[in-house]
Amino acid sequence: MTTVAVIPAAGSGERLGAGRPKAFVQLGGRTLLERTLAGLRDSGAVDAVVVAVPADRTDEAKLILGGDATVLAGGSTRTESVRRALTAVGTPELLLIHDAARALTPPAMIARVVAALREGHQAVVPALPVADTIKAVDANSVVIATPERAGLRAVQTPQGFHTELLLRAYERSESAESADVTDDAAMVENLGAQVFVVDGDPMAFKITTALDLVLAEAVVNR
Ligand code: CTP
Ligand code: MG
Repeated sequence: MTTVAVIPAAGSGERLGAGRPKAFVQLGGRTLLERTLAGLRDSGAVDAVVVAVPADRTDEAKLILGGDATVLAGGSTRTESVRRALTAVGTPELLLIHDAARALTPPAMIARVVAALREGHQAVVPALPVADTIKAVDANSVVIATPERAGLRAVQTPQGFHTELLLRAYERSESAESADVTDDAAMVENLGAQVFVVDGDPMAFKITTALDLVLAEAVVNR
C-alpha cells in the first residue's frame, strides 16, 4: 500500500525559544526536520513525504532536504498546515501525519503504525501510559475530576490513516466550527470512526521546551 507522510513543521517554536522555528533548530549537527525525515525514510514504510514549513522558509527547507520531500508553506495553526500539505499528497492508500518536533522517533515505531494500518485499522495512533495523575480543571483552577490513570494514554505521532477517512475528516472540519483539535485522530473521532492504539516509544517524545532539547542532545551524544 502506497504511504505518504506529512510533516507539519511550520510552527514558530515559541515555547522552545531558540530564536528560530523549531524544525530548523540544530540537534547534533542536523536540524530537527532532517532527523524527522530520516526517521520516516529509515522505517522503510514510507514512499514519499510532504513537509509544511513557515512561508519564509520554503527555499531553505528545499536546500536542506534536497529532493527528498515536497516542501510547501504551512498555515497559522497546525491544523491549517496539515490541511495545506494534504493538497499535495496525491492519492496514496495510507497517510501518516508526523510532527517535525518528534525528531528522535524510532523507525520501528513508525513501521508499527503502518503495519496496523495494513492489517485494516482505519486510524492508528502510538501512545504510552501516563506517569502523572491527570486532573480536569475548570476556568477557576478548581479540580472537577480525576480520570482513572490506568485508562489514560499520552498520544504521539506519527498518526496513521486510510487516506479516504482523513481527507473526509478534514473536509468536514472545514465547515465545522470545532476545528480547534490538537491531533489528527480527534478529527476522525469527530466522524465517529474508531482509532486503534499501538505501543508508542519514549524516544518519540515531542521537543517542546528547552528542557526537552537538553534531553534530546543527551540522547544523540550518548
Ligand atoms: N506546526 C505547524 N504549523 C503551525 C503550528 C505548528 O506545522 N502553524 C507543527 C510544528 O512545526 C510541530 C508540530 O506542529 O512540528 C507540533 O506543534 P508544536 O510542538 O506546538 O510546535 P510549535 O507550534 O512550533 O511550538 P510552540 O507551540 O511552542 O510555538
Ligand atoms: Mg504549537
